[in-house]
Amino acid sequence: MQSPIQLEISRRNLLISSAATIAVTGAATGEAVAQGARTSMQHMSKVSLSVNGESYNLDVDNRTTLLDALREHLHLTGTKKGCDHGQCGACTVIVDGRRINSCLTLAVMHDGDEVITIEGLGQPGALHPLQAAFVKHDGFQCGYCTPGQICSSVAVLEEIKANIPSHVTGDLTTQAAVTPAEIRERMSGNICRCGAYSNIIDAIVEVAGTKA
Ligand code: FES
Ligand code: FES
Repeated sequence: MQSPIQLEISRRNLLISSAATIAVTGAATGEAVAQGARTSMQHMSKVSLSVNGESYNLDVDNRTTLLDALREHLHLTGTKKGCDHGQCGACTVIVDGRRINSCLTLAVMHDGDEVITIEGLGQPGALHPLQAAFVKHDGFQCGYCTPGQICSSVAVLEEIKANIPSHVTGDLTTQAAVTPAEIRERMSGNICRCGAYSNIIDAIVEVAGTKA
């Protein structure tokens, strides 16, 4: 049986050891939080982009796609997210002169690149010829695929002008022609659920100066 003095001493020891445990645990927790913050900082990168002629410096999570950087960071929502894995072409933008699916590439891979989105091609009152031709020929219904279709078609006409062959180009020794077959082949990565394909072809060949 413990005396009241012994009981008091053991209670004091218990309190001291509990306080020490809390201090050690608190320090460990603080270290873990600091470690977590350091780790999460390592997930971030600085990216400089030129988008539609404007310079932007972004802090992005390394996992951010170019599509999400454009839509969520820069609020350029003209570029659409359809499938988000490279199957529909709704997210097509032009990077350093070449069309790409912005959902399939990370923003951090484009530091210093020049990006053109549908907003940079033209605006109401000053439409790009292809934007005007899509309107004239009803090259859309719901319009969801249209920004990607137009960005793609702008790049397609440049590809043909640069004599870059496609699978349907017959003679590789002469200048590639803008034919409906060439347009269909080169635009095959841009899906339109509304089925506005024939009007899209009409719009593109008209701008290219060729009859469909
Ligand atoms: S959203 Fe990028 S290809 Fe469909
Ligand atoms: S216009 Fe609706 S998906 Fe193409």
